[in-house]
Amino acid sequence: MQYNKVTETQIKTFQQIVGLPFVIILDEDKAEFAQDYTEDLHYMPEVVVKPKTTDEVAAIVKVCYEHNLPITPRGAGTGLSGGALPIYGGVVIAMGRMNQIIEIDERNFQVTVEPGVINENLQQAVKEKGLFYPPDPASKGSCFLGGNIAHASGGPRALKYGTTRDYVLNLEVVLPTGEVIWTGANTLKYSTGYNLTHLFIGSEGTLGIVTKMVLKLIPHPQQTLLMLAPFSSPEKACEAVNGIFLAGGNPSACEFVEPQGFRLSADMLNINFTIDEGVEAYLLIEVDGNNMDAMLAECELISDVLYAHESGEVLFAQTADEKEYFWKLRRSIGEATKHNNTYKEEDTVVPRAELPALYRGVKEIGNRYGFRTICYGHAGDGNLHVNILRDQLSDEFWNVTLHDAVIEIFSLCKKLNGTISGEHGIGLVQKPYMSVVMPDVQLELMRKIKLAFDPKGLLNPGKLF
Ligand code: LAC
Ligand code: ZN
Repeated sequence: MQYNKVTETQIKTFQQIVGLPFVIILDEDKAEFAQDYTEDLHYMPEVVVKPKTTDEVAAIVKVCYEHNLPITPRGAGTGLSGGALPIYGGVVIAMGRMNQIIEIDERNFQVTVEPGVINENLQQAVKEKGLFYPPDPASKGSCFLGGNIAHASGGPRALKYGTTRDYVLNLEVVLPTGEVIWTGANTLKYSTGYNLTHLFIGSEGTLGIVTKMVLKLIPHPQQTLLMLAPFSSPEKACEAVNGIFLAGGNPSACEFVEPQGFRLSADMLNINFTIDEGVEAYLLIEVDGNNMDAMLAECELISDVLYAHESGEVLFAQTADEKEYFWKLRRSIGEATKHNNTYKEEDTVVPRAELPALYRGVKEIGNRYGFRTICYGHAGDGNLHVNILRDQLSDEFWNVTLHDAVIEIFSLCKKLNGTISGEHGIGLVQKPYMSVVMPDVQLELMRKIKLAFDPKGLLNPGKLF
């Protein structure tokens, strides 16, 4: 596809659509839209447009469609696969002004929101009504719900409650032609032809721009208990994870963390965290519910499994502040790694019982190629984030040789019946690896779907495949 450059006339049209202050053209003001959280990548858009309504989004998209301008929809820019990078320049449509919680429908356990609402703001708003929106990416304090839909985001509590995918009932979408549709119905069930709602979830802004969403809510669990278990053997920690479920446990979160992850977080946040001699891995496990006796019994069952896998003394968070302290340490690992080192973040995921094999394999590959990794993440989901650290590695190694190592890691995921991303998406940086996990015929089907929605290939071009 031959894309055109944005002209002065089109910029004036955008200004008429959204208002003068909401069209950004100066490089210094556009700089923040040239990057997301992915590595150190930069692509400057030609113009950034900030709509407030669905009609405005549709009008902007129509201009782009008419003039062959590439469009990159953008949420909060917290993505880790380069999905929001405008690699062909063009028009960034920044969704931050569409940030209204339109209606909390307590009667139906649903909420209608705009895509620029911050995940945690929605969680707080519904919690005040005793309701729960469980998907909680590590970046929940800043990421937008629109971005969560783009990448089918998860987070620690996806373990018990499912990912964003399990909470989206219906989406209002502006198609690449500027037409507007609702993808489904506001129902818990849907057997009415192809499920377009689920097609849009995880489509990374390549098929349309979500402008409203109806999300499912559940009753908020009243209590949580949080425990931290140290292990001298990371593999035993990984084995304990599946052991918990085999024993009948059902924790709301079960996170694996290598000590270096907590170390970097604590240093960045400037808080104390002591790593005892010999500790090589932690499991951070949360149990939730409404019946404290039952929850304590579950913690006992889980502790028994942990000790049977040679855990050191299991520590319980005693106060709400302590719980927040551990969660903050955990949620900050990605950012803290970036703060400390150049790194690439892989989002490996395998069936839970294969986690020890995945962990072992990642470490073996790292040793053989000569790079360090910090592994952490949603162990209960078999979803291990692998931060590959640049350290003093040469440009040649980092830009060329490492590619082979990543293929080995992803081939291992495939062999273990897993895949190359559980929740960060493919975007730009994982695109070269799609063929590791899917044959051409499958990629071709995806390309045809893309073409059906976006015949001119204008929406988030250069992503996914
Ligand atoms: C996390 C992000 C990186 O789990 O997915 O911290
Ligand atoms: Zn994660």
